[in-house]
Amino acid sequence: MKGIILAGGSGTRLQPITKVTSKQLLPIYNKPMIYWPLETLIQAGIQDILIIVAPENAGDFLKLLGSGKEFGVKFTYEIQDKPEGIAQAFLIGENFIGDDSVMLILGDNLFEDDFSEAVKSFQGGARIFAKEVSDPKRFGVIEFDKNMKALSIEEKPQNPKSNYAATGLYIYDNSVINKVKSLKFSPRGELEITDLNMLYLKEKNLDARIVQNRWLDTGTFESLFEATKVAREIELKKRG
Ligand code: DAU
Repeated sequence: MKGIILAGGSGTRLQPITKVTSKQLLPIYNKPMIYWPLETLIQAGIQDILIIVAPENAGDFLKLLGSGKEFGVKFTYEIQDKPEGIAQAFLIGENFIGDDSVMLILGDNLFEDDFSEAVKSFQGGARIFAKEVSDPKRFGVIEFDKNMKALSIEEKPQNPKSNYAATGLYIYDNSVINKVKSLKFSPRGELEITDLNMLYLKEKNLDARIVQNRWLDTGTFESLFEATKVAREIELKKRG
């Protein structure tokens, strides 16, 4: 399985700290933000990783991360010229993905879980990862039936049908490339990851799992602050 980290976007909600650098290069306690999703992919067993960045700070990512040798894996880089949606990652990464399946992680998402079993047991379709949150309106929201099968998924709904957010981690089979090609741009001008997941759901090929440990996205000042506190706890726990 291949891996993609999507680390583009303009970071407008974090101005002025993102005026001269990328959000995913900001420190989260003791390392740049992008190290967290990177370590999640590596821990999951992914060894071939595409890093998609915005044009402005592409050189900084290359300088920071290099070839991947230091991490024992291989990195490839691509530019996303404009933030035209999370699902666009699969068009930018089409050649890189080739005939394989792919795990996508957002460059601003921090996970504590180990996803290697979720990768090993993946057989096809789509697998997404849900976490209960107090403010579901900010996220993609997954509704479950009593057997925890996904019933619906909606992007930032006014009236969320559950408290389960879709986190920024996704596994897809190779049909993802053709599925994204069939998507239309949303009213906000993006190829929406939620629209892609709805295609898999319609085919009854969407499997949603629950994230067991902490999950943080770092899109706002508050969540960035919280992430730094949690990252410190996690690192100190690791050191014992
Ligand atoms: O964090 C999980 C959430 O991420 C999901 O629950 C939502 O379903 C999903 O749409 C997304 O919502 P956000 O509002 O957090 O998306 P945002 O536009 O902030 O993008 C998330 C990250 O992806 C951000 O760090 C920048 C990067 N990105 C985003 C877009 C749209 C790109 O690199 N390129 C893009 O075109």
